[in-house]
Amino acid sequence: MRVLVTGGAGYIGSVTSAELLRRGHDVRVLDDLSTGHREAVAAEAAFFEGRVQDREVVDAALEGGVDAVIHFASLSLVGDSVRQPRHYFHENLGSALSLLSAMDRARVRRLVFSSSAAVYGQPEVEVIDEDLPLAPVNPYGHTKAMIETILQEEARARGLSAVALRYFNACGADGRLGEDHSPETHLIPRLCQHLLGRLEDFEVFGSDYPTADGSAVRDYVHVKDLAAAHAAALEVLGDPGLVALNLGTGRGASVLEVLRAAAEVSGTELRAPAGPRRPGDPPRLVASRARAEAHLGWVPRHSELVTILRDAFRWHREYPEGYGAAS
Ligand SMILES: NC(=O)c1ccc[n+]([C@@H]2O[C@H](COP(=O)([O-])OP(=O)(O)OC[C@H]3O[C@@H](n4cnc5c(N)ncnc54)[C@H](O)[C@@H]3O)[C@@H](O)[C@H]2O)c1
Repeated sequence: MRVLVTGGAGYIGSVTSAELLRRGHDVRVLDDLSTGHREAVAAEAAFFEGRVQDREVVDAALEGGVDAVIHFASLSLVGDSVRQPRHYFHENLGSALSLLSAMDRARVRRLVFSSSAAVYGQPEVEVIDEDLPLAPVNPYGHTKAMIETILQEEARARGLSAVALRYFNACGADGRLGEDHSPETHLIPRLCQHLLGRLEDFEVFGSDYPTADGSAVRDYVHVKDLAAAHAAALEVLGDPGLVALNLGTGRGASVLEVLRAAAEVSGTELRAPAGPRRPGDPPRLVASRARAEAHLGWVPRHSELVTILRDAFRWHREYPEGYGAAS
């Protein structure tokens, strides 16, 4: 298949592009490098530098026939979205709408969309399944939920075939590809930087949650497993409609469990002070993965906590500057 990957210079997009190339797909990457890295794009992929909102560059990227699009490109910092909601709605909805128009012009009907567990907000359930009502609690989550609604309506009106993949916590690394965000807000890369002496302040947010050890519980899924799910999603596209699928492991891990796994793989003693809860952080977010398994035959194979931490730590040790100052 010929696949256009928007945001393919970013963390999950680059690992997915590499996986698609390994499976023999023809990959085109469109990215404005706002948070991504040119070095993360495989030499075998055609690269189009520009914004998804830029008609000229998207039309060029779709020229000559593309079978499907995977849309990763997005602003995705929750805190930023709370501080500048209009900017987030403008960017995330604007890029999705521009992309859909361009796909229409090029007669491309298949789309895989990067959604998020943020569409669920703060549900008080042990395990989140896709039938739970969407109730985002920040502008970032709202943009993802609104784009899902747009896709549903486009499917009805124009025969779009779409899969929305709601990722839980993406983490880990794949060979030379890893997580290099600035600022870095995610637990595991921050922890790796801390263990390598590159990040001084490290605290655990919240020690009084109603969980077994008092720290927050999340569902950590290896980026290689996410990439495999995207490849599988391409295979099921065809019939008009939107299917929304959680990508998580179905198992939760507390922050303290993550810390213990990190200490184990790094062989380093770890003492992290407990700070206050972060506003808006729910105690527990764990996915049901039954629907992804039923629709895609997807089973996570790399998402054991120790595997995730080993891969992430190795990447940060090998690439302490991330992709480097050049990007
Ligand atoms: N990382 C996670 O844990 C996680 C969890 C849930 C959902 N997601 C979603 O997955 C997707 C990828 O996340 P990531 O962690 O790889 O993020 P990332 O920031 O590493 O990648 C996003 C890429 O999109 C590019 N981009 C952004 N806006 C663009 C635009 N308007 N035009 C062209 N390119 C643009 C950036 O340069 C970057 O390369 C995002 O949609 C994000 O919201 C991520």
